[in-house]
Amino acid sequence: MEIIQPAAVPKRKLYTGEEIPCIGMGTFGSDRFTAQQVADAVAGAIRCGYRLFDGASVYQNEALIGEVYAEALAQDVVKREDLFITSKVWNNMHGRGDVLLSLAQTLKDLRQDYVDLYFVHWPFPNYHPPGCDVDSRSADAVPFTAERYMATWRQMEHLHDLGLVRHLGMSNMTVAKLEAVLPLCRIQPAAIEMELHPCFQQPELFDYCVGKGILPIGFCPIGSPTRPERDKTADDIADIAVPELVAVAKAHGVHPAVICLKWAVQRGQVPIPFSVFENEYVSNLRCTTEDPLTDAEMAVLRGVDRDCRLIKGQVFLWQGARGWEDLWDPDSRIAQ
Ligand SMILES: NC(=O)c1ccc[n+]([C@@H]2O[C@H](COP(=O)([O-])OP(=O)(O)OC[C@H]3O[C@@H](n4cnc5c(N)ncnc54)[C@H](OP(=O)(O)O)[C@@H]3O)[C@@H](O)[C@H]2O)c1
Repeated sequence: MEIIQPAAVPKRKLYTGEEIPCIGMGTFGSDRFTAQQVADAVAGAIRCGYRLFDGASVYQNEALIGEVYAEALAQDVVKREDLFITSKVWNNMHGRGDVLLSLAQTLKDLRQDYVDLYFVHWPFPNYHPPGCDVDSRSADAVPFTAERYMATWRQMEHLHDLGLVRHLGMSNMTVAKLEAVLPLCRIQPAAIEMELHPCFQQPELFDYCVGKGILPIGFCPIGSPTRPERDKTADDIADIAVPELVAVAKAHGVHPAVICLKWAVQRGQVPIPFSVFENEYVSNLRCTTEDPLTDAEMAVLRGVDRDCRLIKGQVFLWQGARGWEDLWDPDSRIAQ
């Protein structure tokens, strides 16, 4: 296996001064790969030089990934302080005391005393059964309110106070939601996970976070080309087929996926691409260490933004919502 020295992979700084690798590996196998396949990929990724892993309790693979971390640490493949392990609390665990319970299960599964970054996965407590139809609506789903969110965030802050999580993170936020909650946070989020790929650059949210010293972490960095059919709509654009991007890939002699990642890293977000295939995850890490894009190529890629959101979140809608756009504050009105 090709090994990329972790020291050669650029780092970003969190507002705490702590460093985080400029790229990580996603661990959501969706319904395509088993938990064991994902865990095996994590094992291979650690050996090849990855140090950042994006996890979540809802991915249902933390116990197997925990075995991989335990073995890698026991065999001295990596030191704990060099790993950057993340997880997320799922929507059905926002209630009083539940965030602690969720983290406790995650730590037990991951066989860790702490995680480096713990996210609120979605900013509402709206649960849906795994694999349910995109048109299904849960009877108790509710819109975002700052008050509800802060009740969850207070629990997150408490976990930070206890030393069980080293940094706090938010995910699937908007500028309007952040404006409503950031002034209320005793501990500011160190990172915000958001959908980011060339055809969905979210410049307003990206700049807002950077301006506040919050690191953007980009999910679906390749445009999630093999996401399940239920997450696709007729208007979706495939990033890796965009002619300008394909031309840049040809010029560098790499797959368009690799150009998406180079663009992400050079722009300043931390992409977390997923792959269980060694050739792919190795080239995804290697590309951060060699052959950067030129300023002209970065400008071309800036121009391919199509405001094309892929993860629309339909299943989290409440009764009476107009459509998935309501999850993303189309008119920027947020209830306090
Ligand atoms: N916070 C959230 O709400 C949230 C939401 C979604 C995702 N995420 C996180 O983001 C991670 C990544 O998202 P994602 O998996 O949806 O999308 P993605 O990383 O954009 O796309 C993954 C797919 O791209 C292909 N790929 C990867 N590397 C490649 C390469 N070098 N060459 C060619 N193809 C390549 C693979 O397809 P093949 O398998 O066919 O090779 C892989 O399945 C997830 O695993 C998860 O950790 C978080």
